[in-house]
Amino acid sequence: MNARDEPARGLASGKALAHESAHLHVTGRAHYVDDLPVPADALHLALGQSRVAHGRIRSMDLAPVLAAEGVVATLTARDVPGENNYGAVVHDDPIFADDEVQCVGQPLFAVVATSYQAARHAAVLARVEYDELPAILDIREAVALQSFVLPSVHLARGDVDRALAAAPHTLSGSFSLGGQEHFYLESNVALALPQDDGSMLIHSSTQNATEVQQVVAHALGVPFNEVVVQCRRMGGGFGGKESQPALFAAVAAIAARKTGRAVKLRPDRETDMTMTGKRHDFEVDYRVGFDAHGRILALDLVLASRCGYSADLSGPVNDRAVFHVDNCYFLENLRVVSHRCKTHTVSNTAFRGFGGPQGMMAIEAVIDAIARHRQCDPLDVRRRNFYGKTARNVTHYDMTIEDNIIAELTDELVRSSGYAARRAAVDAANAASPVIKRGLALTPVKFGISFTATHLNQAGALVNVYTDGSVRINHGGLEMGQGLHTKVTQVVADELGVAASAIRICATDTSKVPNTSPTAASSGTDLNAKAAQAAARSIRERMTRFLSARYRLPEEAIRFAAGRVTLGQQSLAFGEAARQAWHARVSLSSTGYYATPKIHYDPKTMKGRPFFYFAYGAAVAEVAVDTLTGETRLLQVDILHDVGRSLNPAIDIGQIEGGFLQGVGWLTCEELWWDDRGALRTRAPSTYKIPTASDWPERACVRLLERAENREDTIFRSKAVGEPPLMLAMSVFHALRDAVAAAAGDAAAMRLMAPATPEAVLYALGACAHARAPAQMSMLAKTPAPTNAPTNAPTNAPTIPQAAT
Ligand code: MTE
Ligand code: HPA
Ligand code: MOS
Repeated sequence: MNARDEPARGLASGKALAHESAHLHVTGRAHYVDDLPVPADALHLALGQSRVAHGRIRSMDLAPVLAAEGVVATLTARDVPGENNYGAVVHDDPIFADDEVQCVGQPLFAVVATSYQAARHAAVLARVEYDELPAILDIREAVALQSFVLPSVHLARGDVDRALAAAPHTLSGSFSLGGQEHFYLESNVALALPQDDGSMLIHSSTQNATEVQQVVAHALGVPFNEVVVQCRRMGGGFGGKESQPALFAAVAAIAARKTGRAVKLRPDRETDMTMTGKRHDFEVDYRVGFDAHGRILALDLVLASRCGYSADLSGPVNDRAVFHVDNCYFLENLRVVSHRCKTHTVSNTAFRGFGGPQGMMAIEAVIDAIARHRQCDPLDVRRRNFYGKTARNVTHYDMTIEDNIIAELTDELVRSSGYAARRAAVDAANAASPVIKRGLALTPVKFGISFTATHLNQAGALVNVYTDGSVRINHGGLEMGQGLHTKVTQVVADELGVAASAIRICATDTSKVPNTSPTAASSGTDLNAKAAQAAARSIRERMTRFLSARYRLPEEAIRFAAGRVTLGQQSLAFGEAARQAWHARVSLSSTGYYATPKIHYDPKTMKGRPFFYFAYGAAVAEVAVDTLTGETRLLQVDILHDVGRSLNPAIDIGQIEGGFLQGVGWLTCEELWWDDRGALRTRAPSTYKIPTASDWPERACVRLLERAENREDTIFRSKAVGEPPLMLAMSVFHALRDAVAAAAGDAAAMRLMAPATPEAVLYALGACAHARAPAQMSMLAKTPAPTNAPTNAPTNAPTIPQAAT
């Protein structure tokens, strides 16, 4: 980077400032949507949900509901004035099921009552009869029946069949990967307030205010400008609030329109868990050819995911999985087929990583299989397959990797974590310990930054400077705890040369900044901080021109820093400069806009440059497994992660720690369980176990890569941090496999699927039968299902990778 490009980072950016609402979070004073005061005559909603997974509604008698105490109205599909749909991309998501129901928990009707309790009690009084239809509940069953929400996608490079035939070694196998409930602490919630001009104000806990606005407008049959959506903060979103809050907002708006009163819909945890989509679970089949050193020569891969009953965001989620099946590895001959399975379960949606983690777990499973076959440390196989810097550096989607630091980053982590010595120590400890076995693994991460849908990579902002020099920022991003508002504030503070404490940030509001993208794809700061910087810059430039004329100084002599404006030899408080500019009729308010440069790709061929750049990281995990109970513990984690030039190291470290532990939950303790009638049984914290603070390892070293900076012109050369660290948790899963291998051999390790719950660990060890049906049939077109299972496997063994040659 030459000096001219050097970003003018000021006093605020790069500082470990506390989250702008930290003091409110910890004292319980932060206002979430449910904390907002409601008018005295406000009404409350409860939803009536389907009890069958698939069927036709034969009759629905709501008379007993309407007769119940406190009930003001009921709503069904017929009460939707506009379009009865909230589908994000494809319009296949009814607000209220009309005729056909497609999953247990799907909303059939709503009850509007004077209190939430009254609405809830009344909802169960409905008499609904169904003609049940066969339900598809399993991914492989859906593939067999060709039950898809969207057409399957193929992406290929090289000649896979020829390279497989020529490879000295081949293996084939399967991998199953569970889904994940978002478990945001604040469940979905919407408050609809009819305005005197007939328009509707909605407070929604959403990552996607504009989409809520549009869906509500469609549902009411009004233009977009009749709906305003606001959100000051979410109590977590994690992708779960990218598309699905529109359902709750639409129901609240329809009820508010019908009754003319304010209406709130705040489903309880169980309703939220049984009604909303989750991370896609995946089934993976592979056939891989490799050389004696474990270098991959050819890979034939089939991914199949549970999308649920509708498309929602499943198209882009599965696209991102396809884009990430390389993780950090060069795959010269590759064929990926991606099936988007339609099942009669909730419609799965965005979740931190957005399909990327699933694609990366697939290749890591393949790498692990190769290492076990070659009887070598999986880290060696990983390193052998890393992308190169000048050769072997083009992805399967034709993007040249220009910023590859994965080998250096891995080397540094190997050194700083003491990997080699600990490998020996773990092996020695295992030799002396028959019951408790330890495991160790290092896994790398490469994650593409940008929305794969190119048009979403844009943002707007509105900055207002007041005549005392205080500042308000509006931008299109939404705060869900990730620190977006803090970082945008830091950037604007530096652009105007004022303290971050002189700036307030407004609730996100579709009437202030329109046509926004969801806050997702980790790009909230990349997009919105650039837009806010542009807005602040135009105000500073106007003030500079005015001051230059007024004080007869060249513009270069005017500097904004530390709350003051330097004018040659003298200086003014920023507020005084603002007041003088206003007095001279210079506008102190400006919009700003940003669109990510360089990105493009062809959705038909999936080739191009979908990502502006990549974020990198790596983690070493050490675990212990109790081979008698299957219990596991994470003993130590060492993380080295690349955030470019950090905008806020405290927030970035928090994102890394939180993302990592959320990934650990996905891969170890969180298990979604549907019964054979398609009802989710894990619908509360009592049955769905998320990690807690006590699962944080006793020894943890989380570091930002030093002297790092983004080679692309991102905001102050930083890198996005929201999602990539989740995938550092792959190290924990592979450390568990390592421990299982130490206890019961490589074939046992290969039987461990995700999530590696105690039950799954015992199953892998051969100590119990698994309650889940394992893969019976390969989805690889040309591969016969493997037949030779290892002798110590329990009955119903999954397909175990077998050495074919
Ligand atoms: N951090 C917190 N505390 N809460 C969240 O809901 N969501 C994650 C990540 N970090 C989330 C979070 C997800 S899924 C994304 S895409 C990014 O934050 C979005 O915010 P950003 O783009 O501003 O990083
Ligand atoms: N990531 C996250 N959310 C999205 C994306 C993406 O790539 N595309 C559409 N919504
Ligand atoms: Mo994050 S899954 O892109 O909201």
